[in-house]
Amino acid sequence: MQDTDVKQQLEAELEKAADVNEVENIRVAYLGKKGYITELLKNLKDLKGEQKKEFGQKINILKAEADAKITERIELLKKQRIERMIEKSEQYDVTLPCTLEQGSYHPITLVQREVEEIFESMGFTVEDYSEIVDDYHCFEALNIPKHHPARDMQDTYYLDNGQLLKTHTSAAQNAIMRKYGAPLRAIFPGRCFRNESTDACHENTFFQMEGMMIDENISISNLIYFMKVMLSDVFKQDIKVRLRPGFFPFVEPGFELDINCLICGGKGCPSCKNSGWLELCPCGMIHPNVLKAGGIDTDKYTGFAFGLGLTRLAMMKYGIKDIRDLNSGNLKVLSQFENI
Ligand code: DAH
Repeated sequence: MQDTDVKQQLEAELEKAADVNEVENIRVAYLGKKGYITELLKNLKDLKGEQKKEFGQKINILKAEADAKITERIELLKKQRIERMIEKSEQYDVTLPCTLEQGSYHPITLVQREVEEIFESMGFTVEDYSEIVDDYHCFEALNIPKHHPARDMQDTYYLDNGQLLKTHTSAAQNAIMRKYGAPLRAIFPGRCFRNESTDACHENTFFQMEGMMIDENISISNLIYFMKVMLSDVFKQDIKVRLRPGFFPFVEPGFELDINCLICGGKGCPSCKNSGWLELCPCGMIHPNVLKAGGIDTDKYTGFAFGLGLTRLAMMKYGIKDIRDLNSGNLKVLSQFENI
């Protein structure tokens, strides 16, 4: 095939490709080891001097153009997929009749699995932890002594034996440090409870996903990197993040991590209260007292931790406006998310 034919054929095939996988197959067919463009290069050996030089340059330009066209098509397909997702998620309807014959996954389970897969691919293990914990694990081991004002925001349900329903997934940090020691990469999703009055944004039962990475030389840059990769993967687009100072006794420094608003792209709209940013994930560098309580050598190791609001993430991803829909057990609502 001539180089001009290759170009035309590539453009026609890219135009027809309906998803990213198809485009990747096209990339292999053209730029892979035995791809059309790579094959063209083999003609070089029959040419000499000026002709050889010219042909070589031509093929290199063709290669660069092909690469750019492939990337452009992938970007377009990704963008169209997000637009379809947003369109679909905006259509979820609380009053639709339920036509379910078979069960379906809960939207939080769907988001949880997606985040788990992303972190697993980056070497994190997924841990399980009890919903009933003691005061030490929920508070004291996290540098929140008795009577510390930080406890006010985390009132919960106490059992007669003094144990309590965990208020945050951070309650598992100590046990996981003790179980594995350093270095360590783990995420631990879980159901959390707080004594809250409920409204469209607040529930007494919700889900978080905690993450910890402890190793030598871990810094805030590692934290930002992992959060950006994870969020860009969940939302299937490049996500901008920003950190603001935030106080949590178990991290120092502590941050609130915001992402650029996905609805308006950062320009400002009612969903982001016109700020262009959405608060998503508190995080920080694990406080030395917390590492010590977990038996970690603080001269050698540092680490970051984050507490991703899974419920919040599911609401943002699927455009769910009332948090109470999620715990309603209403199949008319819950069955609509599986294929989004
Ligand atoms: N556990 C905190 C809460 O639920 C959230 C949190 C903040 C978790 C900072 C973290 C962190 O791991 O580093 O309010």
